[in-house]
Amino acid sequence: MTTTIPQNADTTRRELPGYIDEVVEGLSGEAKTLPCKLFYDERGSGLFDQICELDEYYVTRTENALMDQYAGEMAEAIGPECLLIEYGAGSSTKIRSLLDNLKDPAAFVPIDISGEHLVRAADELKVSYPTVEINPVVADFTAAFDVPAPLIKPARNVVYFPGSTIGNFAPKDASRLLKGMAQRVGPGGGLLIGVDLDKDPNVLRAAYNDREGVTAAFNLNLLVRLNREAGADFNLSCFTHRAAYNPEASRIEMRLYSDRPQTARVAGRRFDFEMGESILTEYSHKYTVESFGKIAGEAGFKTRQVWTDADDLFSVQYLELN
Ligand code: AVI
Repeated sequence: MTTTIPQNADTTRRELPGYIDEVVEGLSGEAKTLPCKLFYDERGSGLFDQICELDEYYVTRTENALMDQYAGEMAEAIGPECLLIEYGAGSSTKIRSLLDNLKDPAAFVPIDISGEHLVRAADELKVSYPTVEINPVVADFTAAFDVPAPLIKPARNVVYFPGSTIGNFAPKDASRLLKGMAQRVGPGGGLLIGVDLDKDPNVLRAAYNDREGVTAAFNLNLLVRLNREAGADFNLSCFTHRAAYNPEASRIEMRLYSDRPQTARVAGRRFDFEMGESILTEYSHKYTVESFGKIAGEAGFKTRQVWTDADDLFSVQYLELN
């Protein structure tokens, strides 16, 4: 007797990943969504690195240039003997301009969810800055975590949050994160943050719909990942990437559009798509110095100094908690 195994049947018993409830909830809503934190598996992180090199994606090169040019002024604003805590440190490249300029930092604490990257990057930093205490912490910075006390008592605590990652949080979540940062640094503490600025929608649309299709591959990789890790069967050739600018909310909204009526299964659940229906995969909010000052102000921060490029594309801002 022969048994026919249906196409797509998963013949291995596989543990579903921890994010699956969030994925199922996002796909079950009236408007389908997927969490943007899932972009960053190994392939997604590599694609993001490629995005950072694209002509149209001004974000990374503009922030890097600001750090190169103004790190001395930033270090001056922060002052001596700070405990510097970097949220989402990854491979910690921008931090070097700051560490080159900070006066007698008490310690540097890079925080990242990916332990392997973090420890490697921290080891490299220890070689370059042998006199700085470097204490990496593997944690999800949106949840609770402890920061080890440095050997030297710091004059103030400062959070460093580069990359305009704050833009990927919906306003309510950005507020919550900023309030958490305020608690973390305490009175007299500071926040040095990269914030992408609102600008000509054509520049924004080009940055998130690049000609080479790298951003499209980055967006579609979410479905590739779910097919691999979450027992999903998305038909990759039937979804199309598009990023649109929403002027009311001052944000880019990235979506995957279904090219036809279709059904996809994820973790044994069935999700129907109409032709043209979309999955919202990412917000990238763009702020003015004033609109960011307002949301950070609600967390108790006051804007002290802002560094921008000649075209006002990007800002690095230093804020203090009274
Ligand atoms: C990580 N983050 C700040 C990027 C952004 O610009 O919002 C993620 C990204 N998405 C598409 N391109 C880049």
